[in-house]
Amino acid sequence: MKVGNRAYRSVWAEGPRGPLHVIDQTRLPHAFETRHLDSPEAVAEAIRAMRVRGAPLIGVTGAFGLALAMDRDPSNAGLAASVKRLAQTRPTAVNLAWALERVRAKLERLGPAERAAAAWAEAHALADEDVAINAAIGRHGLPLLRGLHQRLKRPVNVLTHCNAGWIATVDWGTALSPIYQAHDAGVPVHVWVDETRPRNQGLLTAWELASHGVAHTLIADNAGGHLMQQGRVDLVIVGADRVTRRGDVCNKIGTYLKALAARDNGVPFYVAVPTPTFDWLANDALADIPIEERSGEEVRVVRGLDDAGRPGSIAIASDVTPVANPAFDVTPAALVTGIVTERGLFEANEARLASLRPSRS
Ligand code: MRU
Repeated sequence: MKVGNRAYRSVWAEGPRGPLHVIDQTRLPHAFETRHLDSPEAVAEAIRAMRVRGAPLIGVTGAFGLALAMDRDPSNAGLAASVKRLAQTRPTAVNLAWALERVRAKLERLGPAERAAAAWAEAHALADEDVAINAAIGRHGLPLLRGLHQRLKRPVNVLTHCNAGWIATVDWGTALSPIYQAHDAGVPVHVWVDETRPRNQGLLTAWELASHGVAHTLIADNAGGHLMQQGRVDLVIVGADRVTRRGDVCNKIGTYLKALAARDNGVPFYVAVPTPTFDWLANDALADIPIEERSGEEVRVVRGLDDAGRPGSIAIASDVTPVANPAFDVTPAALVTGIVTERGLFEANEARLASLRPSRS
């Protein structure tokens, strides 16, 4: 996608073996800054601190981190330790473990001297695949928006939660990909953007949509149910960090409440995911998916610009107030109207999703 006149990916390596760059998402929406990551430690820090975030993007960035680690120590012990360290940076999005495992499986078959070049090549391949996958998700999701527009004969009102846009992937996004493609195809779309406390990823979504010229309105998280009752939401679409084989969806905290409100109001609730977001081994979503618990400071402290336009932060809760900050929740498959993947639109149930399952898992 373009920022100004320049096309960007959200992670890129300048040459076959780096240097590696990312967009620092902690600086958005107020400043657009890129960052050079020159070591596996820098990659781990960027993922943990959410400079890069979004399930597909942390998978690809983690793979590049493993390539940087192989430049330094391609031994068997080095490989095992680096995979472990990078995988621990964020526990919920299965894409990270999936991408690291894919690179590891390639490298294991090679001698140490060949590993660094192979790791870089595989990370580049993962990045290119992610772009193609997300473009395909957009193509499969576009008919949902076009169909609604043809039926309603007015702009389609979509609600989304968190940021599943191009900066949460290498390009295009998942939930936002059909929106971008609808907009580009002349289907009028307006997006209700959930603020998504406490990290406010909705601000990233608003920034993306504004850059692309898509009509949107930022709302407080609690406004969605009210808008649905008023008939002002035609469709909800979100991304996911992990989807079970039964179609249960783990995504940003607050997604579940939107799905409940959507069901109560007869609003279709779609989830857009690349197939690497499926965890075919998770049985019971509530028991088997690790839900990241992040620092209470994210709830206690709000960051932004002061009256003079300077970046800063203010505490909104007392230091002594106990805070909990679970970062993800689970939406049961029964509340999901459909799952848009790069291979088409699927009902959220085990029988329908079975054809997406890779034969080895
Ligand atoms: O904590 P984040 O910002 O990494 O969480 C992101 C989400 O929950 C997204 O909806 C999900 O990763 C899909 S991104 C295409």
